[in-house]
Order: sequence, then C-alpha cells, then structure tokens
Amino acid sequence: MSSATTTAPADTSALTVQKVGGRIGAVISGVRLGGDLSPETVAQIRAALLANKVVFFRGQDHLDEDSHEAFGKLLGTPVAHPTVPSADGRYSLGIDSDHGARANQWHTDVTFVPAYPAFSVLRAVVIPPYGGNTLWANTATAYEGLPEPLRVLADSLRAVHSNDYDYAALRPQAVPEALKQYKEVFTSTKFLTEHPVVRVHPETGERTLLLGNFVQRIAGLTGRDSRTLLDLFQSHIERPENTVRWQWQVGDVAIWDNRATQHYGVDDSDAHERKLRRVTIDGDVPVGVDGRSSTLISPEEVPDPSFGIASGASTAA
Ligand code: SIN
Repeated sequence: MSSATTTAPADTSALTVQKVGGRIGAVISGVRLGGDLSPETVAQIRAALLANKVVFFRGQDHLDEDSHEAFGKLLGTPVAHPTVPSADGRYSLGIDSDHGARANQWHTDVTFVPAYPAFSVLRAVVIPPYGGNTLWANTATAYEGLPEPLRVLADSLRAVHSNDYDYAALRPQAVPEALKQYKEVFTSTKFLTEHPVVRVHPETGERTLLLGNFVQRIAGLTGRDSRTLLDLFQSHIERPENTVRWQWQVGDVAIWDNRATQHYGVDDSDAHERKLRRVTIDGDVPVGVDGRSSTLISPEEVPDPSFGIASGASTAA
C-alpha cells in the first residue's frame, strides 16, 4: 500500500482503508456490514484483510446473529467450533467473560484441527468500562524478521497442536469449578494435529509462522529443547512492531486472517461483563515450504466431517 489511506472507486466510493499499525491492522470506514454487500465491496474488504491481516469496523450496532452470519458467508463457508456448542445451533460462538475462560494466551483459532478457520469475524456486544482489549500479531512479518539461520530451521520443523492442555496452569486466576466445566466441554473430543511450523499462505504466497498456545511440542524434540525453540519463535511473533491493539466499543467488528496472525484477549477488566460473538470461516489444510500438508493424528475419525477437513471454500476468493 503506497499511502496510509486508500479510497475505493465506483459503488464502494465511501469505503476507506486507514492503516493503524505499520505492519498489521487497518480500519475500514464507510461500510454497513451485512449479507447484502456487493461483490465489489466484499472484494475490497477481502483485499484489505489479506494486506493488513486484521481489519476493524466501528458502528456496526445493527448486526444481530443472523446478519453477522450472513456477512460471514460472503467471505466463505461458516464452520462451527469443533467442541464448544453455539447457542441455538448457530455458527456464532459466544466469547463471554462469565464462562470462566478468557482468551488471554497468544493463539490462532482452532489450530488443533488440520483445516483450522481461515477467517474469524468478531462482533462486540457488551464491552467493559475499561480493559478487555485484543491484540493481534502478524506471523508473516514475524517470519520475515527472523535471522536467516532461524528461518531455515523453522522451515524444517513441524509441531503438534492439541486442545488438551493444562488449563489451570495457564489461567491461575480462573474460578476452578468454571475452568473445570470449560475444559470438559473444550476437550470433549481430544484433537492432536501435526502442522508445519511455517505454512505457505494459500492466497498471498507469504510464509507465516504457525504456532500459538495449542502447540504441545515440536515434533521429534524432547521437552526442554522443544520449549526453548517454541519460546524463541514466539518471542519474534510477539515483538511490539508485529502487533496491533484494539480498544473495543459496542458495535465494533474485527475480521482477521488466522493463516497470518495470532491474537490475545487481554484479561484486565476485573469482574465487568464482556461479551462478543465470533463467526469462523472454513480454512484449508496448511502446506509447509517442503510441500507437506498438516495431518490429523487423533482421533482416527473426526466426529463430524465438517470439522478439520477442508472444503477450501474460503480460499476460492
Ligand atoms: C478469540 O480468541 O477469538 C477472542 C479474543 C478476545 O476475546 O478478545
């Protein structure tokens, strides 16, 4: 992008894209999100999303569960969470502060299955009076910024991701009973997936680091070696230059590309209510720089074939 702001032509004349971070994040203005956007407008949003990794929209208070999902369908095929049920059998997932668990770990959504979502569309319903921001990190610039020997090493590695991790160790402040319930639901099917540590983005061709808090270990390495390498790569992802921080208002929508980002929901709004809704869009099975795809290790059979198996719908642009 040659300037900080770009204005779209023709029927999308009101649409502007304003970068908020040097390496990640842009605000899109002049759009009323919904299922009725023109293909040109959707193409503009998609292009801004691929370029900036996460895009933000203010003032989308008119959206409800139906129109949120209808908008999501313009980006691809919505997919439900593999283990956490959505209200009323919808795709939209509740991210609610009173559910005992917070997303205050750097992660990419649902990487414990092979074809984890390409995009997430998050809508703010109730926002606390302070705190509760979300951070995103650009995993493409994190990869590009690695010194050459580390890039070569990362290219050759694979990592095992799982939804079965030590929840209490990662969330020591959580109410134990609520955490236990949350873990029971989240791990009702235990997934183990091996991904390349570096995936080639199917739409942009960029190389991105594929890690985050669902990673158990680097394949083929023992505990300490694995932890040391994971911490090293993760420290490059979390460098402030690779990140953007969003201060939510009710009615905001954020869309991010899970194939090129990690994110972190900051848990600093005390007991105040925080409620968001997330619709995720089908992704494809990652491919490493050596051409090897991700593989599902367990369970042998996925309970519902729509989980963890790519339709590739979202990458059809
Ligand atoms: C998420 O992980 O999708 C939600 C992030 C947040 O709660 O800020």
